[in-house]
Amino acid sequence: MKKLYGVIGAPIEHSMSPLIHNDAFHQKGYNAHYQAFHVEPKNLKEAVVGMRALGVSGFNVTIPHKEAIIPLLDEVDDAAGRIGAVNTVVNRDGILFGYNTDGRGYVEALKEITSLSNKRILIIGAGGAARAIFYTLAQEEGIQVDLYNRTASKSADLIHEFSLGHLAQTISLDEAIERLGDYDVVVQTTSVGMFPKTDESPVPLKKIKQGAVFSDIIYNPYETKLLKDAKVLGAVTQNGVHMFAYQAALAFEHWTGHLPDTDRMKKLVKEQLGGISC
Ligand code: ATR
Repeated sequence: MKKLYGVIGAPIEHSMSPLIHNDAFHQKGYNAHYQAFHVEPKNLKEAVVGMRALGVSGFNVTIPHKEAIIPLLDEVDDAAGRIGAVNTVVNRDGILFGYNTDGRGYVEALKEITSLSNKRILIIGAGGAARAIFYTLAQEEGIQVDLYNRTASKSADLIHEFSLGHLAQTISLDEAIERLGDYDVVVQTTSVGMFPKTDESPVPLKKIKQGAVFSDIIYNPYETKLLKDAKVLGAVTQNGVHMFAYQAALAFEHWTGHLPDTDRMKKLVKEQLGGISC
């Protein structure tokens, strides 16, 4: 019998997950279908009950349900529990297991373009995406991470909550502008610069390290103002398509035991977005 997978969120109609997962199932020869389901917060509990009752094999969870789903699951893995968000659920014989592939997906994508050992990293933002990325980056050997967030108390709280004061500190906007040239890798996790406000950037660039990596989790637009500005100054840039593809690939691996072709996933997303460069 065909297996059913899906994604729950609101809004969900523009999700590109069905496109890349259905393609990956087809490529790998699985008899499976992936469906997007629009689920309002008030219906989340019933939706999860429905997933169980229908025997759905696994599903992704996106905004706004990544935190709220946790108490509705049977088991949550350690990293997802610490991050406080689940984006992937696996149904094993009726037991629902929750994972977070956002942080690991992001770090795998970043490692495609730079090694991380002995690197100084700046994370811009302290929201849900920053939490997953910060927690996962902190597991890497020999890195130093600073956080800049518009609301400084939130980045300070994050460092405190993860007990990472030995490798991370919070900096102000002025410090971020002045000291940007110290960082090997700059990770942009806020919504600043996202369509339709594409002329915005969270940090004006004065000076950057030559060859620094600038990575933005946004993929609409394909190249944010921050990435454009950094490229002009000599940075190597990476947009959010890479993280999106890797988090999907890791979810697919949780469900099937096999990694799909991430380059193909990126290509499909790029075509869908009409992107011109990575
Ligand atoms: P997500 O789960 O996508 O990370 P979130 O948890 O709402 O979303 O976090 C949004 C992040 O973008 C936060 O770091 C937020 O900064 P604040 O903590 O100060 O709110 C940041 N952000 C959103 N709009 C911003 C803006 N106009 N300027 C600067 N930072 C902004």
